[in-house]
Amino acid sequence: MKLIIINGPNLNLLGKREPSVYGNESFEDYFAQLQMEYPGITLHYFQTNHEGVLIDKLHEVGFSYDGIILNAGAFTHTSIAIADAIGAIDAAVVEVHISNVYARETFRHHSYLSAKCEGVIVGLGLKGYELAVEFFV
Ligand code: DQA
Repeated sequence: MKLIIINGPNLNLLGKREPSVYGNESFEDYFAQLQMEYPGITLHYFQTNHEGVLIDKLHEVGFSYDGIILNAGAFTHTSIAIADAIGAIDAAVVEVHISNVYARETFRHHSYLSAKCEGVIVGLGLKGYELAVEFFV
């Protein structure tokens, strides 16, 4: 089983960025624990702040990985191009949001990506990534 977590813009700042919304833990620390929890699977991690780079990554992994766990950050609410990329690849994608976007500003209530994804996990903190891994295994 080969899975990848792809994080979009500003998620490299987890642990430092708005801790009241996103928590105190860096993604690197969380990811190291997650890898230890699932020694039997290949679990990769990629982060970018650039929309085109995120699309290139989806194309690169989308025909060889079993699943993609995607938190596209603010691109979720803006990017038809990322939605098209999800629709173009073979791998199933689970959309994850750390915060409860429905309890926040209305511009965060719409996702261009959800309809192209297998499912969506929202508002459960970093635990959402683990639940997405659990779905695939
Ligand atoms: C986010 C929610 C988005 O609205 C926001 O732009 C992010 C993070 C989340 O994980 O809660 O960057 O995707």
